Amino acid sequence: MSWFLHPEGVAKKKDEVDSLVPDPTNPNVMVSNKSANRPFLAYKEYRHEQEKKHDEWVARKRERDERVARGEEVGPEELDPTAEVEVGLWGLVKFLLSTIIIIMLTGKFVTGSYLWEYDGKWVQAKTYLPAKQQLFSERTLTQYDGSDPNKPLYIAIDGDVYDVSANRHTYGPGGSYSIFAGRDAARAYATGCFQTHLTYDIRGLDDKELQGLIHWKKFFADHKTYFKVGTVKHVPIDPTSPIPEPCKSPKSGDGNPATSRDGENKGKEAKEESNSRSVPKKGETIRDAVREDL
Ligand code: HEM
Repeated sequence: MSWFLHPEGVAKKKDEVDSLVPDPTNPNVMVSNKSANRPFLAYKEYRHEQEKKHDEWVARKRERDERVARGEEVGPEELDPTAEVEVGLWGLVKFLLSTIIIIMLTGKFVTGSYLWEYDGKWVQAKTYLPAKQQLFSERTLTQYDGSDPNKPLYIAIDGDVYDVSANRHTYGPGGSYSIFAGRDAARAYATGCFQTHLTYDIRGLDDKELQGLIHWKKFFADHKTYFKVGTVKHVPIDPTSPIPEPCKSPKSGDGNPATSRDGENKGKEAKEESNSRSVPKKGETIRDAVREDL
């Protein structure tokens, strides 16, 4: 708007008045030091200084080389003061390390934890040092149902075997989900039929049930304290055998475990518990819960 308020032009402040200064690279030439020229002039001056330093260094180096050639004693070789510093790989590593240290210290300061309270699978040693994978037969797998306290506790889901010893109170004898221990009950994870679907036979599941199964497969695969120990080799299912019948009262009302149980939803589940049948209370097994319903 200044052109509107001052159509005759805005008067420059005293120190802004253009003047002529010698060109830093050629003092015989005068150039304007108007503000638009100043960065350019400053850069030229910098370049000029650098070139001067470099020439001085070359002269010193030449003199030193001559002295060396004459066999005279000389001091340590001087590095070119104008040489560009290479960051290089080591510089990059140092930069990354210091950034990580700063982020961790900030985390400790803000949340009390160097990892910003993250304790997911990426900070678990087992993620990087996976257990030796074993091939189980269905019979071998039953030995890991928790009845022997000296053996680890395994569950299998759709062929994958997981060590769930970290949660013996849930999967061990008397635990609310002990029915899953030592076997592959993939179908029950999908349908919630804990009495009649304790089988790996997943034929005929609908989309929703398959989604439920995928949810639980992911749950075990991503769990921070459970880890995969191998796979179970199943007896092939006779395709002419009947598909297991749907049960009358699957554990979850909508059959979708993702909406009924997820670790974080325990409060919600407690509410559902009063409406749903066959839901284990603490210290109660699925079988106890089912018996109560009958
Ligand atoms: C398809 C239906 C369901 C399936 C497949 C299922 C499966 C499971 C599994 C595998 C666990 C153990 C999770 C872990 O390792 O931490 C669990 C825990 C639990 N579930 Fe379910 N669940 C289902 C529905 C429900 C429903 C409807 C309720 C209650 C309304 C319920 C209540 C609980 C409780 C209270 C626990 C925690 C048990 C404990 O930590 O001892 N579940 N469920």
